Amino acid sequence: MKIIKITHENVEQLGDIMAELHRRAFTIATPQGNESWGLESILSSLSQKGSFALLATSADDEPMGFVLGRAVGPTEKFDGEAEILTIAVDPTNQNRGYGRLLVEGAATKAREVGANKMYLEVAADNIAAGSLYQKLGFKNIARRVDYYVRKNEVVDALIMEKSI
Ligand SMILES: CC(C)(COP(=O)(O)OP(=O)(O)OC[C@H]1O[C@@H](n2cnc3c(N)ncnc32)[C@H](O)[C@@H]1OP(=O)(O)O)[C@@H](O)C(=O)NCCC(=O)NCCS
Repeated sequence: MKIIKITHENVEQLGDIMAELHRRAFTIATPQGNESWGLESILSSLSQKGSFALLATSADDEPMGFVLGRAVGPTEKFDGEAEILTIAVDPTNQNRGYGRLLVEGAATKAREVGANKMYLEVAADNIAAGSLYQKLGFKNIARRVDYYVRKNEVVDALIMEKSI
C-alpha cells in the first residue's frame, strides 16, 4: 500500500483516475443522476484554499482509492480544523484497509498545517463508512435531518468529529 499526494504536477494525470474511482464507489441514484462527483467537481474542490487529495495504491501501483480533504491552520481567533470532503475506495478492493490508510493520511496532512480537529459528514445509512469512522475515533456531534435527497428516499446526515 502506498499513498501519493496529488499536486499541481500530477493532478492532470491522476484526476481522471480519481473521478473513475468516485464513479465506481458512489452509485446511489439521485434526482440529478447519481451521487458521484465527476472530474469537474473534484478539480473544483481541489482548487479551493487548503484542499488536498491523497491517492492510495496497491504495492504494484494500482489505484485503489482516494480522499479529498481541506485543512486550515490556526488563526488569532480560531483553532485550525480539517474536513474530509469525500473518500472513495474501489468497490472490489474495499475492506482491505485502504479507507483507514486514507483517513489516517488525511489526519496527518491536516496536523501538518496545524489543524487539531477533523470533521466529516456521512449518510446515516452508510454502514461501511460509519464503521470506519467510528473505529478511527470519530464521534457523532450533529444530525442533519433529510439531508441527502435520493431518487426514492431522503436520508439524514451525521456530522462526526475527531481530535487529531
Ligand atoms: C467507506 C469506504 C471508503 C471504506 O473503505 P475501505 O477501504 O473498505 O475501509 P477499510 O478496509 O479501511 O475498513 C476500515 C474499518 O471499517 C470497517 N468496515 C469497512 N467496511 C465495512 C462494512 N461494509 N461493514 C462494516 N464495517 C466495515 C472495517 O471492518 C475496518 O475495520 P477493521 O480495520 O477493524 O477491520 C468504502 O466503503 C467506500 O468507498 N464506500 C463507498 C463510498 C463512500 O461511502 N464513501 C464515504 C462517504 S462519507
